[in-house]
Amino acid sequence: MKYDVADLGLASEGKRRILWADNDMPVLRQIRERFSRTQPLKGRNVSACLHITAETANLARTLKVAGANAVLCASNPLSTQDDVAASLVKDFGIPVFAIRGENRKVYYDHINAAIDHRPVITFDDGADLVNEMHTKRKDDAKRIIASMEETTTGVIRLRAMDAAGKLKFPVIAVNDARSKHLFDNRYGTGQSTVDGVVRATAYLLAGSKVVVAGYGWCGRGFAIRARSMGAIVIVTEVDAIKALEAAMDGFLVMPMAEAARVGDIFVTLTGDKHVLRPEHFRVMKNRATIANSGHFNVEIDIPGLRKMSRKVNRGVRRNVDEYVINKNKSIYLLAEGRLVNLAAAEGHPASVMDMSFATQALQAEWVVKNQRKLGVRVYDVPLEIEERVCRLKLAAMGIDIDELTPEQVAYLASSGEGT
Ligand SMILES: NC(=O)c1ccc[n+]([C@@H]2O[C@H](COP(=O)([O-])OP(=O)(O)OC[C@H]3O[C@@H](n4cnc5c(N)ncnc54)[C@H](O)[C@@H]3O)[C@@H](O)[C@H]2O)c1
Repeated sequence: MKYDVADLGLASEGKRRILWADNDMPVLRQIRERFSRTQPLKGRNVSACLHITAETANLARTLKVAGANAVLCASNPLSTQDDVAASLVKDFGIPVFAIRGENRKVYYDHINAAIDHRPVITFDDGADLVNEMHTKRKDDAKRIIASMEETTTGVIRLRAMDAAGKLKFPVIAVNDARSKHLFDNRYGTGQSTVDGVVRATAYLLAGSKVVVAGYGWCGRGFAIRARSMGAIVIVTEVDAIKALEAAMDGFLVMPMAEAARVGDIFVTLTGDKHVLRPEHFRVMKNRATIANSGHFNVEIDIPGLRKMSRKVNRGVRRNVDEYVINKNKSIYLLAEGRLVNLAAAEGHPASVMDMSFATQALQAEWVVKNQRKLGVRVYDVPLEIEERVCRLKLAAMGIDIDELTPEQVAYLASSGEGT
């Protein structure tokens, strides 16, 4: 078995963490039990380019018992949990190509190793694997039944390829399922971004001025959680509706040029580029701390920050670099501007990844069943999968809900009754 992980000696700790996460993933576990009997992916080669975390390990185990020959590579150079990667190889017999801190060349070598596996189904978080198959490995694109995309930034890239007529195989926008983004992006990113910032810095959030760039699903989640810990939260936006929503949710809303002067901690969650840039760094306070929780490390203009800094003190604390602007001012950058919740903490709690990965697993089963009907475009997750995941999660949480009575069904379908 070919693989490339940091150290197989870390496997026992990784296994403990994978099984611990599995305790909090009852929906995925139920699907895994069914898949072990029905084998919906039997004999299929599957490559998954995802954050290599304990939760992803449980998705990989699910794909394997479903009959797939699954391999994994990382979707971010800094998010790999080396102990989990080791355990997947050693304890679960699943090849992994991922090492935390790998450079760009190794990152792409690993993606290519996952393509060498000759997958017919792929999973992506940010579309790097799909992109490689559309640019350098075009022949490998021919055998793909479908690819599942996990995050907002990936879906944006794929929809752009679709609109430009460049897409080569069907893609499923798993991120856009309500069973995914309403929970994962909002509550998962919300909690884990707080976790990442606090683990990196050990700051007290109460009384701190936290600037949240972007009030989308992730930004909303983080803003709510930061406020609940006592931070004074400022939101910046470019979308009038989201800005108004933030204002009516009780947050201060202002342009970044103003927020930059007052903020203590800044987190970007926009999926956009250079949201924090030199004009902002110039007016920030001494010891302003900046981090990104959006997909790519371009939300903060790091080359711009480096250029205006006298020197950079790497690792003044784990996951913290000090950019010395002058003798009176330093700016602290967390986790090299990469996803702070994954690089400085452990990513989303397992309970929320349970829903995202249950959606992914059911979607993989669905694409195999429907492969002959699929055209080359970006598909939404079918409603029945979203509903199934939410119903299973409610049941696992011991929550019952009401059902429409026949009278209500008729009433809601008619226009006859009025005042
Ligand atoms: N950290 C994680 O684990 C994690 C999890 C899920 C998604 N993501 C990533 O987080 C990013 C955001 O995802 P989302 O689902 O919240 O997307 P979204 O589209 O719901 O929200 C993004 C928001 O950012 C705003 N925005 C864009 N440019 C801006 C700018 N210059 N200044 C201020 N606001 C700006 C947009 O108007 C929008 O409201 C994406 O890159 C996504 O892939 C990260």
